[in-house]
Amino acid sequence: MPHFYVTTPIYYVNDAPHVGHAYATVNADAVARWHRQIGDEVLFLTGTDEHGQKVARAAEEHKMSPQAWADRLAPRFAETWAALDVANDDFIRTTEPRHHRAVQRFLQRIFDNGYIEPGSYAGWYCVGCEAYKDESELLPGRVCPDHRRPVEWLEQENYFFRLSAFQDRLLEWYRDHPHSVQPETKRNEALSFIKGGLQDISITRTSIDWGVPVPWDPNHVFYVWYDALVNYLTAIGYADGDDGVGEWWPSVHHLIGKEIIRFHCVWWPAMCMAAGIDPPAHVQVHGFLLVGGERLSKTRVAGGGERAVKLTEIAPTALVDDFGVDPIRYHLLREVPLGADGEFSYEGIVSRYNADLANNLGNLMSRVATVVGSKCGGTGPAPRLESRLAGVAAEVVASATAAWERFAPHDALETTWRLIRETNAELEAAEPWRAEPGPEVDGVLGDALQALQIVALLAAPAMPTTCAEVWRRIGLTGRPEDQRLPGAARWGTYPGGGAVEKAPPLFPRRSQ
Ligand code: MSP
Repeated sequence: MPHFYVTTPIYYVNDAPHVGHAYATVNADAVARWHRQIGDEVLFLTGTDEHGQKVARAAEEHKMSPQAWADRLAPRFAETWAALDVANDDFIRTTEPRHHRAVQRFLQRIFDNGYIEPGSYAGWYCVGCEAYKDESELLPGRVCPDHRRPVEWLEQENYFFRLSAFQDRLLEWYRDHPHSVQPETKRNEALSFIKGGLQDISITRTSIDWGVPVPWDPNHVFYVWYDALVNYLTAIGYADGDDGVGEWWPSVHHLIGKEIIRFHCVWWPAMCMAAGIDPPAHVQVHGFLLVGGERLSKTRVAGGGERAVKLTEIAPTALVDDFGVDPIRYHLLREVPLGADGEFSYEGIVSRYNADLANNLGNLMSRVATVVGSKCGGTGPAPRLESRLAGVAAEVVASATAAWERFAPHDALETTWRLIRETNAELEAAEPWRAEPGPEVDGVLGDALQALQIVALLAAPAMPTTCAEVWRRIGLTGRPEDQRLPGAARWGTYPGGGAVEKAPPLFPRRSQ
């Protein structure tokens, strides 16, 4: 059975989860769900990044110990993912003993291999990024462009990872693995970091003690990024098992935001090489959700009210309370293609909800159920094997499959909605609601029911609850997510003969 290992970034617990985190997590979840449906053995990992200065300072501001603060915040992430119906297989916290063991083992290996040595470094440090910044990257007033806060001068005597030794090996690796970073533009960005020259990195700290202790020098803790990246190995048993880490590595898929390309596409593969394991096979980079064109800008969004809100202040759970879980999942997957930046707004959610969910999917479901009730005695007829929609469905299944495979939920849903639109159009042309009951009406409705079955299968990774409900209403047993694709989505599999249920609209229309 093919193995499919997908990860999200592990999120800092300096603050509560926001809709940007939800974007990454829901996209990874939908892709993981797709792979379960095609029969892969899936491991979907997310979690929290709990060490480092940023978290230590947040704890201090709240007059709590870092551990107590992390213990308070980590469950907020887990609860948010549960509210969004995210089915992660594991949730890692970097403060767990299994992770400490993995970090120590991994970095000890790198030390033993001669790639870590003492040194000193001084430079401008952004606590928000938890990284040194080159002067040339800063805005006037030495302000970090991502965090809009001044950087701090930091001088350190400690241990360095010899990243500079990996320039040629990284370039060679990227030459031999041309598709390992997607999209292509992000791969080029990684390559230009590497070609620009690599400096050794200070990877331990004595200035704070909130971190994983360095095994060969316990006065130091590891720098938070050097601890965090290892989480991807912790979860597959690196701490305790063999170093090859079994079937899950290196065929992993890391979904990350574009601001952490350097860490995942330069540092991380070099660290893996230094520890004697293969670099990750695939990094999928996504862009940012923006509000009013800026990542952190103040504007009007949530609740439709006048209150100024930053994107980072929008709680995913508030959106779920307002719209329901599946509409929010659908929006996060459909609105902004993975790889691009895109606007996130309350108005945008309402208009996509009305257009795609209320008017298209919801409308198809209700009109089919109504007409089966009035013209077919409530029993779903079987589809016609010769039907124009059969050809459309075959194309849609093929292109949705390809889109899910290439981490493009946006395209997968767009193509799935083509089948909904074409089915609605067939119904409008045939007008079965005006016709006399008989074989013609049965055929038209059988086709529409078959199309709904296929839509429920293809859209289940995005909207598991809604698709299970469509499945039930069209008289099928079990759940779409338990069917095996592609076989279950073949035209002609809708059996007919089951009771089709007329029920309240799936998605009542919303006003702005
Ligand atoms: N802890 C590090 C990651 C370590 S991974 C080994 C970190 N954490 S974070 O809390 O800042 O989360 C960053 C991730 O959250 C981004 O890479 C991205 O996936 C997601 N997003 C944060 N803001 C976002 C938007 N405005 N829009 C979309 N995604 C965003 O960095």
